[in-house]
Amino acid sequence: PSRGRVFSGIQPTGVPHLGNYLGALESWVSLQGSYDSVLYSIVDLHAITQPQDPRQLRQNTLDMAASLLACGINPDRCVLFQQSQVSEHTELSWILGCLTSMPRLRHLPQWKMKSKQKNKGSVGLFTYPVLQAADILLYKATHVPVGEDQVQHLELAQDLARIFNNHYGELFPEPRALLSSMRKVKSLRDPTSKMSKSDPQKLATISLTDSPDDIGFKIRRAVTDFTSEVTYDPETRPGVSNLVSIHSAVSGLRVDEVVQQARGVDTGRYKQVVAEAVIQRLQPIRQEILRLRDDRAHLENILEHGAQKARELASPVLKEVRQRVGF
Ligand code: ADP
Ligand code: NA
Repeated sequence: PSRGRVFSGIQPTGVPHLGNYLGALESWVSLQGSYDSVLYSIVDLHAITQPQDPRQLRQNTLDMAASLLACGINPDRCVLFQQSQVSEHTELSWILGCLTSMPRLRHLPQWKMKSKQKNKGSVGLFTYPVLQAADILLYKATHVPVGEDQVQHLELAQDLARIFNNHYGELFPEPRALLSSMRKVKSLRDPTSKMSKSDPQKLATISLTDSPDDIGFKIRRAVTDFTSEVTYDPETRPGVSNLVSIHSAVSGLRVDEVVQQARGVDTGRYKQVVAEAVIQRLQPIRQEILRLRDDRAHLENILEHGAQKARELASPVLKEVRQRVGF
C-alpha cells in the first residue's frame, strides 16, 4: 500500500540530548518501514544561519550522523544525508523564495525570536523557512514529522506547494504534519522551559553521551518541590512531572503505571529510580555513538551514499521545476 514519503531534518548540533531523542528521533526510527520512503537530512545549510566555526561544524555533522545511526536510523531503510551535499536544495530554495512575499516571512516565530539575537538576523535566517520548504518539496514529501514549534514553517511549505502549483501547474503534493509526539522533555533545572542544547546551565540537559555518573548526578540535582510524594501534575508540579514523563518515555510504561509503582517512594529515592531507567535506556546508544565517532571514514562513506541516493530522487524533480519555470 502506498503510504507516501517522509522527510525531516535536524541541525548538526553535535550529539543530541534526551529531549531530541524522546521528542523526535525515537519517532524518526519508527517511521522507517512505515512509509514508501523516508529521508532524513542533517541540515547544515540551516546551521550556518547562525555563526559557526568550520571545524566544529564538520565535527558536529559527523557527531549527529553517529548519533542518528546509534539511535537506530538505518541507512538501508532510509536516505540519511547531509543537506549541503545535495545542491538541488539551494536551487529550489531560490525559486521558491521568488514566490514568497516578505511579510509572509516576517511573521514567522523563528525570525521574530532569533533575529533579535547577536547577529541581528541575516538574509539566510530570514529565508530559513523557504529552505525548509525546498527540503520537503524537492522530494515531493507527503509527511513531515515536526515539533509544534515548526508547524507554522510547515504551513509555509504547504502554501508554497499550492502557489507553485497554481503558477506552473500541479507538481507538488501538499505535505502534511506528523505531530510525532506531544512529549516535551523539560529542563532539569527549570522545568517550565524545554530541555535545550542552548541552555547555559550545564546540569539542565542530558546528552546521549553522558556517562551513567553524569546522568545520576544531573537527575539527583533536578529541581523538584517540597512535596515528597510522586504525582503527575505538570501545571502545579512541573519538576516531578517531568521526571515521571521521562521515566514513562524511557521505560515504555504509561504515566499512571509509573505513578502507581512510585507509591510510597519519596522524590529523593524516586530520582534514583528514574536515573537507573534513563541509564539503562541510553547506555547502548552511548556505547554505539562513542564507537562510531572513532570511525570517521565510515560515517563519511554513509553520508556520501546517502547524498547519492538523495540526488537521484531530487534531480528529476528539480529538472521538472526548471522546465516549468522556463529555464
Ligand atoms: P534544541 O532546542 O536543543 O536546539 P532543536 O530545536 O534543534 O533542539 O530540535 C531538534 C528536534 O528535537 C526537533 O524536532 C524538536 O522538536 C525536538 N526537541 C528539541 N527539544 C526538545 C525537548 N525538550 N523535548 C522534546 N522534543 C524536543
Ligand atoms: Na531550537
